Amino acid sequence: MSQQPDLMDRIVSLCKRRGFVFQASEIYGGLSSCYDYGPLGVELKRNVKEQWWRAMVTSRRDIVGLDSAILQSPRVWQTSGHVEGFSDPLVDCKNCKARFRADHLEGDACPSCGQVGTMTEPRAFNLMFRTFMGPMEDSAATVYLRPETAQGIFTNFLNVMNSARLKPPFGVAQIGKSFRNEITPGNFVFRTREFEQMEMEYFVPPDEEDKWYEYWIQERFDWYQRLGIRKDKLRLRVHGDDELAHYSSGCTDVEYQFPFGWGELEGIAKRGSFDLGRHSEASGVGLSFFDEQTKERWTPHVIEPAGGCDRTAMTFLVDAYEEQEVGKDAKGVADVRTVLHFDPRIAPITVAVFPLVKKAGMPELADEIEGRLRVAGFRTFYDQKGAIGRRYRRQDEVGTPWCVTVDGESVDAEPEQATVTIRDRDSMDQQRVRVADVVDWLRDKMPN
Ligand code: GAP
Repeated sequence: MSQQPDLMDRIVSLCKRRGFVFQASEIYGGLSSCYDYGPLGVELKRNVKEQWWRAMVTSRRDIVGLDSAILQSPRVWQTSGHVEGFSDPLVDCKNCKARFRADHLEGDACPSCGQVGTMTEPRAFNLMFRTFMGPMEDSAATVYLRPETAQGIFTNFLNVMNSARLKPPFGVAQIGKSFRNEITPGNFVFRTREFEQMEMEYFVPPDEEDKWYEYWIQERFDWYQRLGIRKDKLRLRVHGDDELAHYSSGCTDVEYQFPFGWGELEGIAKRGSFDLGRHSEASGVGLSFFDEQTKERWTPHVIEPAGGCDRTAMTFLVDAYEEQEVGKDAKGVADVRTVLHFDPRIAPITVAVFPLVKKAGMPELADEIEGRLRVAGFRTFYDQKGAIGRRYRRQDEVGTPWCVTVDGESVDAEPEQATVTIRDRDSMDQQRVRVADVVDWLRDKMPN
């Protein structure tokens, strides 16, 4: 597989230059592996979450949402197995003191100082962040920042099932921050210590587990493609027995081929009755389902599609990125435009509106059209500065699918006959559309 590290550098640089992602605490030298999302990044991430929520919750009858607390009783994490088992094998280099995940090391030489045979034996390093609740900083006050959103769903199993009057098969979905003290974060927002997850626990009759496992693998694999991720950059990878988490009897990852190699976007896991069973035992509250028809009580099994918002947002960025040669200048030097081919549902700005020049009534009409589009619910952007070609290129670079330009023809015609040009980001073609039809024209072009 070819490695393209400099491509990743160029994407990271675009992210900073155009306001997608900034280093957190940058003015103080930054905080390792922590990132802030800028004006365009926050819209990109909101679109990712919105599309996920639509696909998983609002377009279906069988799945409802939840927003549980980041801080939970420590007993939740004792019972789930995280206090005891949520750890990575840590090794130290005795020479330079650098620390690594033992399972990420290749060979015997330290990746930091190059010395051979200087690593300590691996020891388990728990990935949960700890803090204190209330004014006492002692062990009785210790609480954990959640390392996954899933447990808040399991502990609310009865609350949700009873209040929403559901019966298996049904699902509970949640989007929210999780925290892991990763030993080796890296690759931009791919692996960080604070990140956002999109998880859904699907509770099924035990004998339907395999059917729903296959269903969710296919459904989640298709979701990325429906939103425009290239199929040849995606693959499914089945976990070997030695990789499975303590709660899981099967797991398949959706992976994407990043410039730095294949990386996991999402795991679809069979969790069986592990979590409901353990929490029932530890809490004394029976987390099970009573079937009124058969008069039988049983513990549902769980299929869990669990993905990451940050990784998914980064995947859309990487997959959409292109440096495209669009011609040559008089000296034969290539004219290259940088373009993000986002699906319109993912693009941070849907439509930009420009007056061709800053006079002759053009800014006024452009301003009016932009206002109309904004009210109609489009994410808009208005710009009247600089050459029109430069303004188009700036929108290409952030992936805006359409640019509406008000020109001389627009302001010279009778208002009902007035037209504007609409430029398509990918083909760069322009067509004239009546001002009165612009909103409908764009609505028509938006994928469902
Ligand atoms: N509840 C199951 C669970 O948490 P996971 O595979 O550990 O499973 C699910 O995490 C997803 O969360 C991953 O596929 C990834 O997209 C995201 N994720 C996990 N750790 C991450 C990290 N350190 N940085 C960014 N995203 C992360």
